[in-house]
Amino acid sequence: MKKIIELFSEKDTEKFAEKLALQLENGDVIALYGELGAGKTFFTQKLCSFLKVTENVSSPSYVLMNEYSGIMPIIHLDLYRLNSEDEVLELGLYDVIESGLTIIEWPKLAEKLLTKDVIRIYINYKNKHREAIIKTEKEILL
Ligand SMILES: Nc1ncnc2c1ncn2[C@@H]1O[C@H](COP(=O)(O)OP(=O)(O)OP(=O)(O)O)[C@@H](O)[C@H]1O
Ligand SMILES: [Mg+2]
Repeated sequence: MKKIIELFSEKDTEKFAEKLALQLENGDVIALYGELGAGKTFFTQKLCSFLKVTENVSSPSYVLMNEYSGIMPIIHLDLYRLNSEDEVLELGLYDVIESGLTIIEWPKLAEKLLTKDVIRIYINYKNKHREAIIKTEKEILL
């Protein structure tokens, strides 16, 4: 499916995160695309709060990988600072993905690891608002 959701406010992003959170299951992978400041981490924070994460959800730009526990284990990655696919492999992503929910900001270098039912979310700036484009082979109602 491919769906476009208009986001006029942070509240809209939060509502979108809530709808998605209710449909996620172990093994799901969310790839978050979008420019600096588009709202990838903001979206992740809201998603995690609907998944009952109580830890602080912050941008893993420097640490590359954060782990949280909510109603499922969650791994939050930001690959912005990596330079090669080898560096992605060194993170041991294959093992991680199976066990819970994986959320990847700046997923370009992990593209080969992403299977066809990855949930791709592109957050784009428009004139006065943002839009999220969701592409996935999974059955998701939004
Ligand atoms: N509709 C919206 N959705 C998401 N964030 C919004 C929205 N409107 C305003 N914002 C603000 O935009 C900022 C987005 O920052 P955020 O760190 O989430 O971006 P990012 O895409 O993760 O950037 P980076 O590429 O640096 O990781 C936040 O400060 C958030 O409050
Ligand atoms: Mg971020």
